[in-house]
Amino acid sequence: MFSFLLNSLNKIKIMHTLTTVKPPFVSSKSYLINGQISDWNGPMANVYSNIQLEKSTDGKVEPTLIGSVPDMQSEIAVEALNAAVKAFARGQGLWPTMKVKDRMACVEKFAGQMKEKRDEIIELLMWEIGKNKPDATKEFDRTVEYIYDTINAYKMLDRKSAKFDKEGGIYAHIRRGPLGVVLCLGPYNYPLNETFCLLIPALIMGNTAIFKPAKLGVLLITPLLEAFKNCFPPGVVNVLFGRGRNIATPIMRSGNVDVLALIGHSSSAVALQDEHPHKNRLRLILGLEAKNPAIILPDADLDHAVKECISGTLSYNGQRCTALKILYVHESIKDEFLKRFSEAVDQLKFGLPWEDGSFLTPLPEPNKPAYIRNLVDDAISKGAKIMNKKGGELSPNYCYPAVMYPVDQSMDLFHEEQFGPVIPVVSFSHIDQPLNDMANSEYGQQVSLFGQDVKELGSLIDTLANLVCRVNLNSSCQRGPDVYPFTGRKNSAVGTLSVFDALRSFSIRTFVASKDNEYNNQILNNLLNSDHSNFINTEYLL
Ligand code: G3H
Repeated sequence: MFSFLLNSLNKIKIMHTLTTVKPPFVSSKSYLINGQISDWNGPMANVYSNIQLEKSTDGKVEPTLIGSVPDMQSEIAVEALNAAVKAFARGQGLWPTMKVKDRMACVEKFAGQMKEKRDEIIELLMWEIGKNKPDATKEFDRTVEYIYDTINAYKMLDRKSAKFDKEGGIYAHIRRGPLGVVLCLGPYNYPLNETFCLLIPALIMGNTAIFKPAKLGVLLITPLLEAFKNCFPPGVVNVLFGRGRNIATPIMRSGNVDVLALIGHSSSAVALQDEHPHKNRLRLILGLEAKNPAIILPDADLDHAVKECISGTLSYNGQRCTALKILYVHESIKDEFLKRFSEAVDQLKFGLPWEDGSFLTPLPEPNKPAYIRNLVDDAISKGAKIMNKKGGELSPNYCYPAVMYPVDQSMDLFHEEQFGPVIPVVSFSHIDQPLNDMANSEYGQQVSLFGQDVKELGSLIDTLANLVCRVNLNSSCQRGPDVYPFTGRKNSAVGTLSVFDALRSFSIRTFVASKDNEYNNQILNNLLNSDHSNFINTEYLL
């Protein structure tokens, strides 16, 4: 029997005596290189959950040890890179030259084997990153769905290529081809979904990859090593564990990476690009920081705006790149909004991820509660107040969401992407204020706009669409549905992701052209009637 202690929001200690929920323990030495799952003989890194365990000896609480993974070093990283380079073989490898339908079959087989690990992965998502059960379940299911959607999107893309064009007396058979070797790095907040939203399109387009899981959310990748091994030819996907500087840095330094696919912080992306000796050859697919604002106009339906702003600011404790990270409320409605919003925040249930109704859950990064509290204190020292009763209460693994008002440019909370549970509120009397702030911001992902007067909304939308890449009307910001383009301006992204756009991002148009004459046409016909080329074919994939 394990007992867990979490300081509650009103400083009462809640004991969770768990008779059925026991922490997982996964100690995995395995890694995948060149189609071989091997055991790592070097140092291991312990993996802790920030869901804190009460020690039976002295009653102190501490993070829970839930497993260990290899802490791999640069030599092995280079080995993985070489396996990916060999599998791509300058475009001559089995994988990049394989028929599209055969690559699809490998990916489909992988999705099938991945589904068998559903419960295990959902449990690890809850323990490793503190995601509540509905969201952890959604992350898994959404990822599987994304894989099937990707297969279907590629079929559609391929069908459009199953033909010859003719312009200016030249026949052209145009397809999308792979780019080469991809280094794939995902974030801790969506360690499965966002990583696979890079990896799967990269693979299906014929690239080969080295994949290192995020700093948190690593154990949940281990159950998938067998599936990767079973479903892809050797070297196509290589999975390593360890720190970025030991693994990603030497891989980039080699100059053999063609695509850096990273969802995370721009500082990591820039540092990795800087390691690459041929930057002009490096394609970037990056999902980076954001500080998405909500703008609440005087005529907004406040109940609706409060509801959307709660999910926008605090789903998964605000640890989403798409989270609403600053709220601009019109002066005329700010008091009412703050009252209703603060009450709604205080009603949110904090609990363990698997408990029914837990909306707020422990923060996985040990120093995050103190960081959030520092933002609160900085804002208070410069004139803001905590507007909700429970705001800012600290426990070893949480800082209860504080609604901070009035926030201004002098405060860190105004500028920093807090990526956690604290909500800065700014009031405005003229719409130019949020618009100017957005124009001056380093970020440009999305905005939420609340109001109903079409005259005002119309011109605002026209401006906002040029400041960000998605204007959410009376709705919180979000990435999904995954068929819609997900991107950002300025420091928020490079490239566009969506089921369809990712296929384009991880490939390049390449074609066979031939002058229209009897000699060439006969050769083309012969090629089409043979199975000598996987590229030249007009097969229509059903
Ligand atoms: O962290 C960034 C995610 O892409 C957000 O996705 O809006 O579906 O939670 P989401």
